[in-house]
Amino acid sequence: EFESFLSTSLHSISLDIETLQSQIEELSTFSDTPAPSVTRILYSENDVLARRYVKNLMGLSGLSVREDAVGNIFGRWDGYEPELEAVATGSHIDAIPYAGKYDGVVGVLGAIEAINVLRRSGFKPKRSLEVILFTSEEPTRFGIGCLGSRLMAGSEQLANSLKETVDSQNMSFFDAARSAGYAKDNEDLSTVFLKKGSYSAFVELHIEQGPILEEEGVSIGIVTAIAAPASMEVEFEGNGGHAGAVLMPYRNDAGLGAAELALAVEKYVLESGSIDTVGTVGILELHPGAINSIPSKSHLKIDTRDIDEKRRNTVVEKIHQSAVTIAKNRRLSLTEFKIINQDPPALSDKSIIRAMEIATQELNLTHKSMISRAYHDSLFMARISPMGMIFIPCYKGYSHKPEEYASSGDIANGVKVLALTLAKLSQD
Ligand code: GLV
Ligand code: MN
Ligand code: MN
Ligand code: MN
Repeated sequence: EFESFLSTSLHSISLDIETLQSQIEELSTFSDTPAPSVTRILYSENDVLARRYVKNLMGLSGLSVREDAVGNIFGRWDGYEPELEAVATGSHIDAIPYAGKYDGVVGVLGAIEAINVLRRSGFKPKRSLEVILFTSEEPTRFGIGCLGSRLMAGSEQLANSLKETVDSQNMSFFDAARSAGYAKDNEDLSTVFLKKGSYSAFVELHIEQGPILEEEGVSIGIVTAIAAPASMEVEFEGNGGHAGAVLMPYRNDAGLGAAELALAVEKYVLESGSIDTVGTVGILELHPGAINSIPSKSHLKIDTRDIDEKRRNTVVEKIHQSAVTIAKNRRLSLTEFKIINQDPPALSDKSIIRAMEIATQELNLTHKSMISRAYHDSLFMARISPMGMIFIPCYKGYSHKPEEYASSGDIANGVKVLALTLAKLSQD
């Protein structure tokens, strides 16, 4: 039955790429910054509007919609054996400041279109199919990435720390969630946790966010592993003072501590000897932030990743040691050194990889195996479900900036591969 669906679908897959493209455009207008940039921050007015837009599309596709306490959104198509664990797909729609239209969005709107394709073809899933919109894959507002999927995977640590978490305007996580209509009745986030085995498979469609597929002219990337991310928050404090009056020997400049640590991050990353080790200081703030005032406080956020967890951990440890040493040598106080997250890598499931490969072959698309250097909600879904990811090419590998772009043809290919993969997994 599945085989016959597969072979007829090769010729009859009716994908409405124009509609999908116009949905991507429309979703991009829910933004706090002007086009072509997209900025969509968790629980903001534009995030709420964008969520409403997606829920409406889910409804139009015949999915029954459910939301959990933090706003992970689930759209379900019941299979003819609904008691079996469902097959899930999905991604995120939040966007970091001055981002593009495609990161995450392709995996949400594309998943809904994959459902439409399967429905139009007359396919009936055995296992239920579920489209998930994950809350806050990006760490922008509350500092932690993959907030929704991390909780779904059962992170008690996150559930506890969110009780004390505030944003840069000092608004608590729960006040923000309530303003968007979530976490209404109580603050017990254990309701978000899912049991291991809740899904028989999870597959995420995403733009590559790297240049390889485009450079090599390959249509589909099949992700075999997701690199291990870590992030840290550091604060130095010194005495500050007048930029003219305090002579150099009497200073303990918190800004210079931060600058020295930023350069140390680069040094330790390069010292690993592997091209796979990366490190970034994406946030560096100085207080009071006046040209004629010696910085009395500095605040850094540091991101480092590697496909090798041990090597990544070595970098984290060196950064920590370095922060301590810099503070000592510069007579600063290291008032904070906090590891925000230090996650292991994730491996894709062999049988999902196989299903994705078969789908690309049936569609006559070229594919290659690759690792994901960016993190995704799949990193956490892998803790509770067999996981796989489908990558499509994006222009010059651009991502996390307004120039991010994926062509209609590449998006259509990705959606088709997703549809066939979901179809196959739903019959298993
Ligand atoms: C996801 O946005 C990442 O930072 O990898
Ligand atoms: Mn992103
Ligand atoms: Mn993403
Ligand atoms: Mn990010």
